[in-house]
Amino acid sequence: MIIQCFENPEHAIDWCQAVADQGLTLGFVPTMGALHEGHQTLVRQATLENDRVCVSIFVNPLQFGESKDLETYPRDFESDAKMLEQAGCHMAFTGTLAEFFPGRLDPEGGLLPEYLLDPGPFAESLEGEFRPGHFEGVATIVGRFFEILKPTRAYFGQKDCQQALVVRDLAQRMHGPEVVVCTTHRETSGMAFSSRNTRLDEAGRRAGMFISRALFGARALWFQGERNPAELSRFMHSVLNQGDLRVEYASIRDPEQWSGEQPDGPLTRAVALIAARAGDVRLIDNMLLSVGNDAACKEG
Ligand code: PAF
Repeated sequence: MIIQCFENPEHAIDWCQAVADQGLTLGFVPTMGALHEGHQTLVRQATLENDRVCVSIFVNPLQFGESKDLETYPRDFESDAKMLEQAGCHMAFTGTLAEFFPGRLDPEGGLLPEYLLDPGPFAESLEGEFRPGHFEGVATIVGRFFEILKPTRAYFGQKDCQQALVVRDLAQRMHGPEVVVCTTHRETSGMAFSSRNTRLDEAGRRAGMFISRALFGARALWFQGERNPAELSRFMHSVLNQGDLRVEYASIRDPEQWSGEQPDGPLTRAVALIAARAGDVRLIDNMLLSVGNDAACKEG
């Protein structure tokens, strides 16, 4: 199938409106391009659950604190279109900040602060602490896409667990769409697929593998009965310290009762979350420890 590609968001909006007018359901997968098998998994799931699927490809400047990170974010639109076609996507679109927020930019081209959306309580700590303003940027662009495209369902990866929680909360406040969180797709090494992996050299890749090793190890400990967040976190740090990584956090949360601090007591539900830098590449990953026992950050 040849997918429709629109560079002008107005055409994407018209296309989505035509889908709605025919009484069809629309699945939406927001991306920043540099697509990989993880994104294809989201698109495939969306095609199974909806009549039509659309994907946004937009490297959103609102969610990047470090301008170097924004500049070096990988971009390969030709390969993206090919991957989307293979996955069964019907339409892909891109645009500029000015086109997505007409009349809402300042003279320098930045979004006027009054149009930034509140990312809500799940933005507290971890990514919220290490990337100030990041979730405001995510919530603002995702909220805008929800507003203009009106999808039936929107698909996000479990890999960005905290983002999935922020977006699900946002969608509830906006009365739609349904947010579907999809299982993290992993390389055979165990490493989660990520657009940033393409920037890892061999040493960075070797170091990065300690992240999934720490998560799988924490899950094994959980299965053995360990319920103390401090112990699980200590274990993850001990694994991460074996790799050449700069660890930002390796922490445990109850995904249904998000808290700024790591909870104290024994948990019945838990997700382990890690952010670490391998050289200048920042990697994040997480794993549900209490599989099948929580709905908040559920892998679907
Ligand atoms: O996860 C991402 O790629 C981005 O944060 C998203 C959801 C596309 C918003 O820009």
